[in-house]
Formats: sequence, C-alpha cells, structure tokens
Amino acid sequence: MKLVVSLILMVMACTALALNNGVARTPPMGWLAWERFACNTDCANDPENCISEHLFLDMGKKLVELGFKDVGYEFVNIDDCWAAKDRDSNNQLQADPIRFPNGIKSLADQLHSMGLKLGIYADYGSHTCGGYPGSIDHMELDAQTFADWGVDMLKLDGCNSKVTDMKTGYPQMTQYLNKTGRPIVFSCSWPDYERGSGLKPDYKLIAANCNLWRNYNDISDSWDSVLGIINYYASHQDDFQPVAGPGNWNDPDMLIIGDFSLSLEQAKSQFAIWSIFAAPLLMSTDLRSINPDYAAGILQNQEVIAIDQDPMGVQGRLVANGSNYQVFSRPLQNNTYAAVLFNTHSFAGPRNISVELKQLGINSTAANARDLFAHKELGTFQNMFHAMVDPDGVVMVKLTPM
Ligand code: GLA
Repeated sequence: MKLVVSLILMVMACTALALNNGVARTPPMGWLAWERFACNTDCANDPENCISEHLFLDMGKKLVELGFKDVGYEFVNIDDCWAAKDRDSNNQLQADPIRFPNGIKSLADQLHSMGLKLGIYADYGSHTCGGYPGSIDHMELDAQTFADWGVDMLKLDGCNSKVTDMKTGYPQMTQYLNKTGRPIVFSCSWPDYERGSGLKPDYKLIAANCNLWRNYNDISDSWDSVLGIINYYASHQDDFQPVAGPGNWNDPDMLIIGDFSLSLEQAKSQFAIWSIFAAPLLMSTDLRSINPDYAAGILQNQEVIAIDQDPMGVQGRLVANGSNYQVFSRPLQNNTYAAVLFNTHSFAGPRNISVELKQLGINSTAANARDLFAHKELGTFQNMFHAMVDPDGVVMVKLTPM
C-alpha cells in the first residue's frame, strides 16, 4: 500500500513538473520569419519585407491560397524584432505600434479565422538577440500575455542570459505555460546555448519540458550551412535521437527551400533529410514569389511530408557513411521504412549508392521500394537497396518488407 501511494505521488510530481500540453504529436509545420526576413524593421523603405502585421498576414494568405495549408502547414511564426523597445506601464510586452498597429491579438484572430495558428518569439535573458525586451524578470506575465493574445507556439531564445541557469529557468517557463491552460507549443533554444558554452545538454530533461528544441547553429541561406547541420545531426545522433517522439522534436532549424542558394537537387535533399529526421517543417522563404518547382514540386510533396509526419515519430538515423555518400533510415507505422540515399559529392554525374536492407533495419530478405520524389514503384529488391543518385541529391524511398 505504502509503495502504491508513493508511486502515485511520484507520478503526480512528474506530471506536475512536465510540459503538459498534449500538442505537437507530429512535428509542427508552417512558416517562420527569421532566416528570410531577419530583423528588417525598415517599413518606411521596405514596406513589403519588414517585420510587420502586413508580412505575417501576407504569408498566412499564401499558405491558404497556394495549397500549403491543405498539406499540413498551419503555423505562421513571428521571430525576433516584433516588440516595442519598452514594456508598457504594466510591464507587459507590447508589439511595435507602427509595424503592428492592431497588436498581436488581432493578428492571431485573423490567422485563426483562416484556419491557421500564430507563433511568437521571446527570450529567456534580459534582451532578445536583436536587443528587444527579454523575459527573465517577467516570465509568468509573458506566458499569460501570450495566452491572452491567442498565441499557439512560443520560441524562447537564450541570448543575454546565464546559460547555466537554463536547466531551471526554461522549466519555469514550462510551468507558467501549463498554468495558462492554453496549449502552446513550446520551442526551446536551451540545448543549443548549452552546446555553444561547452556544456552537455540533458536531453531527457529538455524533452520533459519542451515540444521542440534547437540543437545546433542557426541556418543561413547556403548549402554549406545545410551540410553542417546534417553532419552535426549524423555525428551526434546518439545524444538526442532517442528522445524524439510524439510531442518532442529535435529542431535542425528552418527550411531554406525557395530562397536564393539551393539548387533543386539540394532543396530536395534538405526536404528529404529534414523529413527522415522527423524535424519541424518551418519554411523561411517568401511565399509571394516562390518558384512553383520549389513550392508544389518539393515543399508540398505529400509522400515526403507523410514520412515527416509518421505517427510513430521515430527520428531517422545515419546507418551507412562513405566518403561520398550517407544513408539514413527510419521505421514507420505498419512495419514500413523510409530511407534516404544521399550523394554528398558535388562533382561529376549520378553515382550508384547501395545499402543492405539489414542496415536499414529491415529483417526480411526482400522489400518493395517506392520512390517518393519520382512518385513511382521501383520494384522488389533482394538483400540490398541501390539507386543512382545525383550530386548533392537524394533518392528517398518508402520500403515495404515482403
Ligand atoms: C538567434 C536564434 C535565431 C533567431 C535570432 C533572432 O540567433 O537562434 O533562430 O531567432 O536569434 O535574433
């Protein structure tokens, strides 16, 4: 009896301390301002691209109009530089009155009426990375303010703070978010700051308190940046792959597909590898001018999205690594598997990459393969799967063991 009581008390204590919002059962999908629009506050000279209500409404409209919403993209997320430089007389955060003349609640209402959700950005320290007011002295008030505004996701950054305090400070925000009673997806930058300071993130604690979290450097608009992130994920997968699952996602940062730097092949590679990683799919591109080859052709590929959104939520792993190629795989529901063969060589033509079915996690000696970018059945493979893969490109397949 005593044992039962203490067990119940332990379970209650754990639930009380954990993030308790029931959201993000599959990786969040949507749009996030930062990589493409950064801290552009110059609405006088650049009214179409500055961080303003106008920009977020435009992106929301495009998500709906271009069919992004129909395939799962639902968040419109504000990043840094949305706030006024000072809190109001009640210490509440307030939006910049010129760039957000109707305030954040009105923006949330308008996005909700389009069937979309709104994300916002704050910082655990004294100031955001862009120098706007931080939350350190007003965490509970800020959580309640965001809930009152109807916010659906909070990214809490970590500039200008004491990194060694994050393991207690971020969980405090988790508690304040729980207390509001509004299910707000909680995106934490905590592990990336710990890594950057030479500390080892406690990923179990992070997963108990956050729905998603950044592990590594900010993405920028370059293939090198994408490769750097993939290599970090591949070489550190044992540290954080095991904690991913429904409600908890490693976040390799935004998709830069449709921006200035990636070729079509490279863009497919980012999309395939983010999806095999069960990563949040947050596009940072201008949806008003995106080329349809990148939009409908890649970002709206429902067969690839289905891999990202597989309900089992197992993050893929690097399973084979050569000097010019990498192979990733992940198990999916109904005893199926996804695999990505990645040609990491930016030289010469397509090359053959082959991998044993066993290495992909498949126990049978044969499997049927379906190419998720070509949208066609490739037939049955015995013992090995192999394909010709373009330079910087991928072949992504769904495998059904026979
Ligand atoms: C940090 C974050 C970025 C972005 C900027 C905003 O660098 O990692 O994702 O939010 O701050 O200033």
